This record gives sequence, structure tokens and C-alpha cells, in this order.
Amino acid sequence: MLDAAKRLMAPSARSDVPPFMVMDVMAAAARIEAAGSRVIHMEVGQPAASAPTTALDAARAALSGRLAYTETLGIPSLRARIARHYTEAYGVEVDPGRVIVTTGSSAAFILAFLALFEAGDRVAIAVPGYPPYRHILKALGCEPVMIETTAATRFAITPDMLREAHRRTPLSGVLVASPANPTGTMMTREALAALIDAAEGEGIRFISDEIYHGLDYAFPAETAARLSGNAVIINSFSKYFCMTGWRVGWMVVPEPLVRPIDRLQGNLAISVPTLSQIAAAAAFDGGAEMEAIKHGYEENRRILLNELPKAGLDTFLPVDGAFYLYADVSRFSNDSFDFAKRMLNETHVAATPGVDFDPLHGTSFLRFCYAGSRDEMHEAVERVGAWLRR
Ligand SMILES: Cc1ncc(COP(=O)(O)O)c(C=O)c1O
Repeated sequence: MLDAAKRLMAPSARSDVPPFMVMDVMAAAARIEAAGSRVIHMEVGQPAASAPTTALDAARAALSGRLAYTETLGIPSLRARIARHYTEAYGVEVDPGRVIVTTGSSAAFILAFLALFEAGDRVAIAVPGYPPYRHILKALGCEPVMIETTAATRFAITPDMLREAHRRTPLSGVLVASPANPTGTMMTREALAALIDAAEGEGIRFISDEIYHGLDYAFPAETAARLSGNAVIINSFSKYFCMTGWRVGWMVVPEPLVRPIDRLQGNLAISVPTLSQIAAAAAFDGGAEMEAIKHGYEENRRILLNELPKAGLDTFLPVDGAFYLYADVSRFSNDSFDFAKRMLNETHVAATPGVDFDPLHGTSFLRFCYAGSRDEMHEAVERVGAWLRR
């Protein structure tokens, strides 16, 4: 009787995925703010700005009409506009029929993993990396294979590393992000092309998370869409277009995957929020506004690169793109979670401990998001510097 009652209450084993630790930092920061102090938020990976005016105007206009379901794969004109974006931004032709609109890139991962892999399949991901990759794979019954990256390869998976992991136990897929989260590091065109060739030569499906494209400072980001017709490309309006809360993203997939994903998305979600799709299409007309915001990030990056070393944090990974700086704090602590907690309590600067992104070496790192204002960057460096020198 007791067993039966317990079974009725018990969550499934596959739902037992770890939480995103940044949420704990955000909650602690909110408590400090509720007590009346100002916190500089460098923990959450999202733009401080709103969606482009063009997107907001389109959404306002759409509100007076009926917001019905759309085609499961997305509003055709939005799919065509996304395809055109590939011609404009990268000079590569993409058939709009291969573009699928999704509920943020987060839903695109679920759709891609379901469409590409069977339960039990092994998928390689880089460590440090974005935690939901491994948590979503696990919840879907796949096995994330964490490939540890180092400075020697600019924190990217190389063809040799991929082949070696594949020889040990066969892989079905590999997922990379460039620019990456939490590091902000990017793969060069050559490195990306070599990895795609190696993966496809071994029959390993390639997934490219391009959510931070547009936010590249060191060199232009390359799209896997130019390098392979077999790769699955995932992108989003969340970062460059400042539309995190609108929950709209997209994928470009090989033609044979379009119908399976259509069936999956139709069953899982019917369609992507209509208002967000309308706003997203108009966001492409807000280029000048978005470029100004990007220049603000560039300036913030310059401030941190110049001033953080003077404050005592002088070791970080290549700060190529996105809006992250991943700093080594091992000179001060071997427990970045405790370090982030103390830094927040004593300086009111919030950053995310690396343990979220790297179960192996994350205890030595903190991720700072520099998507805030220029004044906040100066003030954060001053506060942290004074704290480290105390
Ligand atoms: C690397 C990376 N991929 C995907 C996502 C998911 O973003 P969204 O679902 O808002 O598109 C994030 C969010 O921070 C991210 O950092």
C-alpha cells in the first residue's frame, strides 16, 4: 500500500536533471535587492536592452488582430526572411523550406535530439559548455559525452579529440557552439570545417549552436550552413536581437529532417507563439539598433580586458564573442561557488560560478556577463578590485 502510494508521488528518473545554478545566484541577488541595496548583475546571460523598435511596433500592431495558431514549421514569410538572413549575413543560399521556427533555441535542441538520435545514443559536447545540452540529452535518454577542452585547442573540440572519443565508444552526434557559453571563445572557420569533415567522415551527426552569431569581436563567426548541407544549425532571436523573453528561435536542417520535425513540433507544441513570430520577422529591420547595442558590448569587453587584470583577475579564456568573460579565480579560491557567494554578499556584484558549466574544473572559474552598461562595468571592476585587495 505504502509502495503504491509512493509510486504515485515519485517523479521519473529521467526528470532528475540538475538545476541551473545561476538561478541560485539570481535568487541571492534578489534578496540583497529586496533589502534595499543595488546589485550589478553579471550573472545572467541576457541583454539588458529590449527587442528592436521594429519588433515592438510589429507586435503592438498585431495585438489588435486575431492571434491564431500558425503553420507548425513557422509563418512562411518568417522562414523566408530567416533564409534571406543567410544570404545577407554569410553569402550562403539556404532554402526557406529547410528553415524551422522554434520556441527559442531551447526547443530546437529537443526537436533536433529527437529527430536525430535514438535513446541510448551518445552525443559529444565540449566542457566547459552550456549545461542544458547535457541535461536535455539525459532527459531524452541519450548519453552526453563530455569532451574536456583546454587552452591548447582554444577550448574547442578538435577532429583528433572527436575521433578518439568515437573509437572508445561510438558517437552518434557532436554539438558545438561558437561563440560559446560560458567562455565566449570562437572556432575559426578552418577549425569548424575540419571538425565537420571529421564528424561526417565517421557518420557522426553535426549540430551547430549559433545563438551568439552577430556578437563576434575577434573575427567573423562562420556558419555551419556554408560548410555542410547535412549539419543541423540552431539559432535564436534571444541574444543578438535582445528577445530572450519572446521565446523564438530557428533551425536549419537537412531536407529529410523537415517532415519528421514538422510532425514532432506539431504534436509537442502545435506552433510557436504567433506574436513572437511576427515580432521576430520585423526584428531583422532593426539592424542599426542592434549594431549599436553590439558596439556597447564591444566597449564593455574592452573595459573588462583593460581593467580586470589591474583589479587582480588576469587569467581568462579568449574573449572572442558573445558577452561572456570566463575568469580563472583559482589564485583566490578553489571553490568558485563559495567565491561567487562571498563576492555577491560583500561587493554586490553577481557572477556565475563555473561549476554550472564544467563539473571537472569549474570550481576554478567565474563567468561574467558583460551585457550591461558601461558604467556598471567600471563600477563592478572597482568593487571587485577593492574586495580582492582588502
Ligand atoms: C549557448 C546557448 N545556447 C542556447 C541557449 C538557449 O537560448 P534560447 O532558448 O533563449 O534561444 C542559451 C541561453 O543562454 C545559450 O547560452
